This record gives sequence, structure tokens and C-alpha cells, in this order.
Amino acid sequence: MTQPAIHSSLKESRTFAPPATFSANAHISTQSQYEQMWQQAKDDPAGFWGQMAQNLDWFRRFDTVMEGQMPNVKWFTGGKINVSYNCLDRHLKGARKNKAAIIWEGEPGDTRVLRYQDLHREVCKFANVLKKLGVQTGDRVTLYMPMIPELTIAMLACSRIGAVHSIIFGGFSADAVADRNNDAQAKVVVTADGGWRRGKEIPLKASVDESLNQSPSVEKVVVVKRTGGDVDMVPDRDYWWHDLMEGASTDCDPVQLDSEHPLFILYTSGSTGKPKGVLHTSAGYLLGTALTTKWVFDLKEDDTYWCTADIGWITGHSYICYGPLANGATVVMYEGAPNWPDEGRFWEIIEKYRVSIFYTAPTAIRAFIKWGNEWPEKHDLSSLRLLGSVGEPINPEAWMWYHRVIGQERCPIVDTWWQTETGGIMISPLPGVTSTKPGSCCRPLPGVVPDIVSRDGKSLGPNEGGLLVMRQPWPHMLRTLYGDHERFVKTYFSEVEGCYFAGDGARRDEDGYVWVMGRVDDVINVSGHRLSTMEVESSLVSHPSVAEAAVVGFPHEIKGEGICCFVTLKTGEGDESLKKELIQHVRHHIGALAQPDQVRFAASLPKTRSGKIMRRLLRDIAAGRESTQDTTTLEDLNVLARLRADEE
Ligand code: WT7
Repeated sequence: MTQPAIHSSLKESRTFAPPATFSANAHISTQSQYEQMWQQAKDDPAGFWGQMAQNLDWFRRFDTVMEGQMPNVKWFTGGKINVSYNCLDRHLKGARKNKAAIIWEGEPGDTRVLRYQDLHREVCKFANVLKKLGVQTGDRVTLYMPMIPELTIAMLACSRIGAVHSIIFGGFSADAVADRNNDAQAKVVVTADGGWRRGKEIPLKASVDESLNQSPSVEKVVVVKRTGGDVDMVPDRDYWWHDLMEGASTDCDPVQLDSEHPLFILYTSGSTGKPKGVLHTSAGYLLGTALTTKWVFDLKEDDTYWCTADIGWITGHSYICYGPLANGATVVMYEGAPNWPDEGRFWEIIEKYRVSIFYTAPTAIRAFIKWGNEWPEKHDLSSLRLLGSVGEPINPEAWMWYHRVIGQERCPIVDTWWQTETGGIMISPLPGVTSTKPGSCCRPLPGVVPDIVSRDGKSLGPNEGGLLVMRQPWPHMLRTLYGDHERFVKTYFSEVEGCYFAGDGARRDEDGYVWVMGRVDDVINVSGHRLSTMEVESSLVSHPSVAEAAVVGFPHEIKGEGICCFVTLKTGEGDESLKKELIQHVRHHIGALAQPDQVRFAASLPKTRSGKIMRRLLRDIAAGRESTQDTTTLEDLNVLARLRADEE
């Protein structure tokens, strides 16, 4: 196989040491403490993680810390645990019982505060509701909900009885919901009438109704009344959340589950075929998210922590729900858009609740920059002490803006690299230790042993671009792809012998800092979320006019990557109205996130002699770049010239 030739032109020499006062008070506060933990975890992972597992409350202590080898590793076998117990019950014994667990703000400005006691009570009640609806340990429950406290309640209720939740982001369409319900064979769907987004109602229940025509496994639907919008309620299938909760008992013992009991499935895009149902299990996932929350965000008892992600993505699972709640944190949760009613909404929320830790995405930061400094400048951001970033590489200029305008040069920035599959943060600065470099996610956390290798698995030297892999297993890694273990092995463990690989290219600089250079597969990162070019292509091809489609990403000012579709038609030329129709078609099929930015009609697509579409050429065209690619294998050179001539 050929060496990956990933060329990096990014050079960044600025460094930012943590403020001395920050280091002095941090959970991990010196470089030597970090080095020692990292080395111990590398040399004796079982010893390290076994010791760390004391951070959790166990009904029965495990017999073995880790068993087997990648891809099939079991953690904490013999142990009995309950995730909701660790996120709730254990905090009720002391002062935390009256501490705010969730400070929630709805988009229209309504607010709710749930103390740990309140959250515990609601979770117990809803767990009993689920049981009454026939949900048993191991059954799958789909949650398709807005960002309201009931979503967290439903997650924890599932975990309390050992039901496996599958959360579907509210921006996905009915078809996407049906696909995921079918793959997971979900028994119950929990949804809401709708949710608020930029003052408009997103009609969730209507999408569920549409999806249920195609997903026969679903027996019952629970509907939270959020917007008050009109919904159809089907007798003996659909129930209002508030009706079911009214009579529910507040007593519900947490089920004592095996460490490896499945906690949730979360669907994510791969480079081929249908979405992958990433499966995470109980003890290892909980331990990983709890510890990384404490280390990376340096979480303390009196912090007010806000992660702006939607719970429908892994960031929300790990760093709105499980990680922070396992630590007894106060979490801010916001329902709506950052620019509603105006572009100052996030800064207003930070000021209002005195948020101290703020975790958001580069795509949001680029939007803030565009909206202008006057918005954050209108608000008092002095409560902030730490900033985080996740979802895609952050460009150094966006990093600097975040540092100056939001962090006011006082707050360390943690640029956290991880994935749906890794469950928790893998590579990130430690805010009290690491001298950060804008654009680098810096060094691996304790327990994480990454390498950067060529396609044949050889470690590469400083500043050589290659594949980012993990050489050792970690407790919060995915265990399988739901219902398709073979695909799991093939996707993550067959590219580089003995290693986990999930598709990113990276280099390590002379200080051992990691610089992630983006995906090397056919996955594009739109606004910090992975989308498969394949899925968009199959959606396009399902339109009656389309013969063939090739989809590629191109650099986009706000979204990081935009979606460009090259389409050949069965007959005729294609015009503006067909373009619009195709854009709507994909949006309807997959969801708003997948809405193409560009559709270009072409008479034919560039192919190799063996018939493979040459995407790298299309990527150059979409980006408006002169191609430096080798075209010797191209079947028909004229195709390229024609595509270029069509550029807008
Ligand atoms: C992909 C994972 C992890 C939660 C959000 C996305 C990219 C993520 C960073 C970062 C550079 C990053 C990678 C990764 N990514 N964080 N800090 N620097 N790239 O989760 O949908 O599973 O996507 O997002 O390409 O593989 P996801």
C-alpha cells in the first residue's frame, strides 16, 4: 500500500501557558503529575483503570478490570452497577441533594431548575412509566425530543431499568427516524409535540407519526407537551407524558446491571451504507465520561457548566448528561438557537447564570465572529474560567478570537478531540497543565495511547502526516455496531493491524502535540457533525430524475465543510427549479443538516478506468482549486474540462 501523503501547511508557533492561579487549584496541576498518570496507564492499564474505578459506586465490585484484546475487550467483568444511581442517588446523601442539577432555559425564555432530588424523583417516576408500558431490561427506547429536561429524565430512566436508549437528533427527518427505529427494533418512542427553534415550532410528533408507518416494532409513543401545537394522538398507542407521570410512583430501585450491560445506541454516519449504531455499555462509558469531565473541564463543586451541544449527538450524551451528572455538577441546558431573539443569546445566558465553564463548537465560534464583537461585549462574561471546543479542527484565528473576546485572555481553552465511537474525550489539553497551541488538541489523556501511522501501520516521525490510531483499548470505547459486529471489526480494526482507526488524519509536532487534519474517508464534517457522502448520494439517486450522483465536501466559512453534489440526469439538462427540488429532496430524506449547499449538473462524472468515481478531482472542483492530482487513471479527460466550464 502507498504511504498516505497528507500534506500540512499549517504552521503555528504561539503558545499559551495556563495561568498560575488556574494550575494551583486544578485537579491535575503539574506536568509531572500528568506524565506520571499517563505512563502508569500505558504500562499498567488494568492497575490504572482499576484504581480509577473507585470513582464510581458499585453494587458489586468487579473481578477483572479488562479482559481480551481489541476489538473485543470487556471491562470490569463481574461488577454490578447502575448508571442512574451514579448520576443521582449517590448525590442525595449529602449537600448535593438540594444543588441544581439542571438549570434549563427554553428558547422563548421560560426556565426550570431541577435540583438533584427533583431529577431523581422524575427519573424514578418515568422509569416506572416505562415499565408500565412494557419496557424491560435490554429493550430499546427511541428518544426523539427537543432540548428539554424530559430528555435527560428519559435517558436516566432508561439507564435505571437497563433499557437501551437510542436518541435521534430532532433535526433528522421521519425517514431517518424510521431507519433507526427499525435497526434498533425500538419498542417505545418518547417525543414531544414539538420544540422551539428560532421562534418556529419543529413538529416532532408529526415526524414520528410519519415514521411509524414504516417502523412496526414500535408499540407505544409518549408525548411531552412542549409547544402546545396540534398533534394527532392514536388511541392505545400514544400517551401524554403528563398523564402517565401523574399516577406514577416515586419509588424505583435501580436495577443492578452487569458492567457490560448496553447503555445506549447512537447512530452515526460512516463512509458507506446505512448509519452505524454505535453501542456503548455501562461501567466503562460512565467511568470514562466522569473522569474526563473532571480532568478536562477541571470541574469543581461550585462550577456552573454549560455545553451547548444538542443531546442528540454524542457530545450531549457524554458532556451534558452522563459525565457532568456523575460528578454532581450544575448543568445549564438551553433549548434553542444562538441567534434568537438576537445574536447575544449565548452571552446573555452566560451572564444570567454566571456560567464558569463553556463548551461549544468551532462552527458556532465562526458564526459568533461573523455576527460581531458587539454581541459578547454587551454582556458580563467575567464568570467564565474555562472554554472548550469540539467537533472539528478549530482554525487558529477562531481560537484566538475565542481566547481574546470570550475568554478575555484569562481562560484556558481545551480543544478536545474525540468521536462518537470513543465515548469520551481522548486528546485534549489539561487546563492546569498544558501550554496550548491554537489549532492543536495537544496531548493524549491518561489511558489514551495514540499513534500516527502510515497505511502499513508504521509509526511516523514528527510532522509527518498519517492515520490517527489508538494502540490500546480504553474503558469508554464502543463495543460493537448494533446488530453488525462484523462491520464493527471491519470498520475500525482492519485498516491498521492491532489498532483502532476511525478515519482521521493527523500529525504530531516536535513537542508531541497532535494536530488533527480532518477525515481521510468519505465522511464530511458539517458544522461539527459527521455526514456520509454515500447517504446523500443514495438520497439523490432515489429521485426519479437522477441517474448518478457524487457528493463531496468543500471548505465553508461557517459550517467548516459544505456539501457539493455533482448530479447526472436520466434525461434533459436540469435547471434551477430541479436544483431546488433536489435540495429539498435530500433535506426531506435525511434532515436539515444534510441539505446540499450546491448542486451541479454534469453530463458525466470523472471515473477511473475501473469505473470508480474520482472524488479527489471533484473535491478540487468544488473548492474552486486548480487540481494538483494525478489524472493518469482518468478514463475521459474531457469530463474534467466540462465540469470546470460549468462552474458558477
Ligand atoms: C469527528 C468525530 C466528538 C464529538 C463531536 C463529533 C472531528 C471532533 C475534533 C477536534 C479536530 C475533531 C474528527 C472526528 N473532531 N473533535 N477537537 N479537532 N477534529 O463527533 O460526529 O463522532 O465526529 O469529528 O474528524 O473523527 P462525531
